[in-house]
Amino acid sequence: MTAAKKELRAATGVEGLDKMLKGGLIPGRPYVLSGSIGSGRTTLAVQFLQQGVRQGERALLVAIDEPPAEIRENVRYLGWDVGKIRILDVHPTAKAYSKKVSMVEIAAQRAVGSLREARDDAKAEALKQASPDLSVQSLQLMLKQELQETRYSRVVVDSLTTLKRLSEDQDIDMGLMSLLRFLSEANLTCMLVTDVPDYTSIEPEIFISRGEIRLHRIMTGTKIERCLTIEKFRGSAHDTVPRPVAIAREGIQVKPGKKVPKAALSMLQGVPGSLQ
Ligand SMILES: Nc1ncnc2c1ncn2[C@@H]1O[C@H](COP(=O)(O)OP(=O)(O)OP(=O)(O)O)[C@@H](O)[C@H]1O
Ligand SMILES: [Mg+2]
Repeated sequence: MTAAKKELRAATGVEGLDKMLKGGLIPGRPYVLSGSIGSGRTTLAVQFLQQGVRQGERALLVAIDEPPAEIRENVRYLGWDVGKIRILDVHPTAKAYSKKVSMVEIAAQRAVGSLREARDDAKAEALKQASPDLSVQSLQLMLKQELQETRYSRVVVDSLTTLKRLSEDQDIDMGLMSLLRFLSEANLTCMLVTDVPDYTSIEPEIFISRGEIRLHRIMTGTKIERCLTIEKFRGSAHDTVPRPVAIAREGIQVKPGKKVPKAALSMLQGVPGSLQ
């Protein structure tokens, strides 16, 4: 790759990962950040947003899995001041559950319709805060509203899996197609966090995203080994070898020159979709 082309890449905030990606992500595209539970996805996603902030970009984290305060607290040990990252709180609130309404009733008061009818920002903001239901479609509307107010460059949705699980959409696949198209038309470099718990199924967002970075957490019997693979990266060459990962005080570290220990590699080789 020429030096000029390299400059067009978006640094992920993880030096070793940028090397694996031959310079970084291609900006303005949606990517899936997949992995097993506790594999380090939220940490890497926040690192990606922090890198944007460091470069003077605006960064948005859509927090679905964890309340924003917890995310801030978890990354505080890294010495990161995430104050400049805008966190959109769509974590389902206790308030929403305490209403003890049925899923059908929740569906009847869909945020989508309400947001469309929202006449003023205050009303839309109140709806966002209450967030009694979630859907891929309502998230798209919330993002649209956010983008009208602020020009973001980087967005993380953490996680798309929880969003889909709680979603009231009739057709989630269609919703996802629309969301990814919206994100790329808005020229946002995105990381969409997705679970791959047992590796037996391939989620639709993986097919339609422009690339997939996968974090692996492998119990070898004696210890947990971590590694990272680039499963796909449209429009670019990339490292096809799994590389060891460490979670240290600096956050996620990827070691591009190193090999994954054999015990972990043998377990990884049974994973469909890995190590093409
Ligand atoms: N200071 C630390 N040093 C080493 N490892 C750590 C440290 N803090 C957290 N970890 C590891 O990172 C994991 C959590 O990382 P993170 O929350 O980013 O993963 P995740 O894939 O988003 O998890 P989840 O499935 O819970 O959403 C912890 O379970 C722990 O194993
Ligand atoms: Mg997480």
